[in-house]
Amino acid sequence: MKYNSLLVTGGCGFIGSNFIRRTLAQTNARIVNLDKLTYAGNTANVADIAGNPSYSFIHGDICDGRTVHAIIHEHAIDCIVNFAAETHVDRSIANAAPFIATNISGVQILLDEARRANVKRFLQISTDEVYGSQHDGENADEFAPLQCGSPYSASKASADLLCRAYWKTYQFPVVITRCTNNFGPFQHPEKLIPLAISRALAGNEIPVYGDGLQRRDWLYVEDHCEALLTVIEKGIDGEVYNIGTGYQRTNVEVINSLLHATGITAQLIRHVQDRPGHDRLYAVDAAKIHRLGWRQKHSFEQGIVDTVAWYRANGAWMKEILSGEYSQYFAKQYNELQGHGVLEKD
Ligand code: NAD
Ligand code: DAU
Repeated sequence: MKYNSLLVTGGCGFIGSNFIRRTLAQTNARIVNLDKLTYAGNTANVADIAGNPSYSFIHGDICDGRTVHAIIHEHAIDCIVNFAAETHVDRSIANAAPFIATNISGVQILLDEARRANVKRFLQISTDEVYGSQHDGENADEFAPLQCGSPYSASKASADLLCRAYWKTYQFPVVITRCTNNFGPFQHPEKLIPLAISRALAGNEIPVYGDGLQRRDWLYVEDHCEALLTVIEKGIDGEVYNIGTGYQRTNVEVINSLLHATGITAQLIRHVQDRPGHDRLYAVDAAKIHRLGWRQKHSFEQGIVDTVAWYRANGAWMKEILSGEYSQYFAKQYNELQGHGVLEKD
């Protein structure tokens, strides 16, 4: 790896924890993980690497410039990988404020501290959601317009624009990646796949918004982490890279694949009220990152089988989350499921 000392923000979340594990295993880089431990941050996600001498954890907020400044200087950080974000679309619809604070102001603070310290590479983890809904057969390339459909995606697109501006104005070496929907180990059950697995394994109905024919492109998290390492090594300053697989599935198809992998034959799909402003289709053109030499290794089906196996084997991890803040969130978000014999089985 070209860089010696990485600051990874949001490393106690789903993708960040997978990225840290893989980077420690594959490179000689030292890693500092800065995480605020919001409801989505979980130290259990990095428990197995806590004792690694190349790894350290700092509990803190990317919006706190003094903390960011101190870490960059004390650890001689030469590369920042920013995963820290509020990430759930439904929560952004209920309250956009924390999304603006972390996903926009937090990025500005990171950019300013990194620029002043001459950090050599800043990787901003963005999302395909910034392109908004695509028409059938269309794939957004990196020049497609940003047509955000939710407060979450608007906050991520704002950060992308700030990054672009810091490259243009200060030649600060920013690279942006825009990946599709990730799935795999350590994903919080507010997201569709772990939600569906945990409910199916408990024999509970699975809430499907609207007709369930919305489509996403699914990326196994390990393939995503490999793509990020490729961009860190080979990406060009100021550029944007889409990361996607072409494994487009409707939400109903995803759930049916999960049910098949669990061996559950009961009909558990329950159509509930649609998400406001729900984007029908996300699809990206990934030709540019292919030119850097990256290709996904997992088929969608293999990723689903591996994911189901991981959640089956890690019931205690899931139980801990389901019994905390999430139980109140679930009751509020899915209140129409209450009183229908669904929650009682939880
Ligand atoms: P996650 O919700 O699982 O984890 C987010 C992490 O960021 C948590 O550990 C949380 O504690 C931390 N965090 C939040 N606010 C913070 C702050 N102010 N300071 C420091 N830490 C803070 O998220 P994820 O699914 O792993 O997503 C990681 C990144 O990838 C995000 O930027 C997200 O927008 C992007 N992304 C995710 C997906 C996906 O499918 N999960 C797809 C595209 C892009
Ligand atoms: O596309 C990348 C994005 O993928 C990331 O930027 C986001 O951080 C990440 O949360 C994810 O956003 P989505 O909204 O696509 O993911 P989510 O798992 O919330 O929903 C996936 C699809 O499933 C979407 O069409 C909404 C639907 N859904 C979701 C939930 C939670 C349901 O039908 N029922 C549900 O209960």
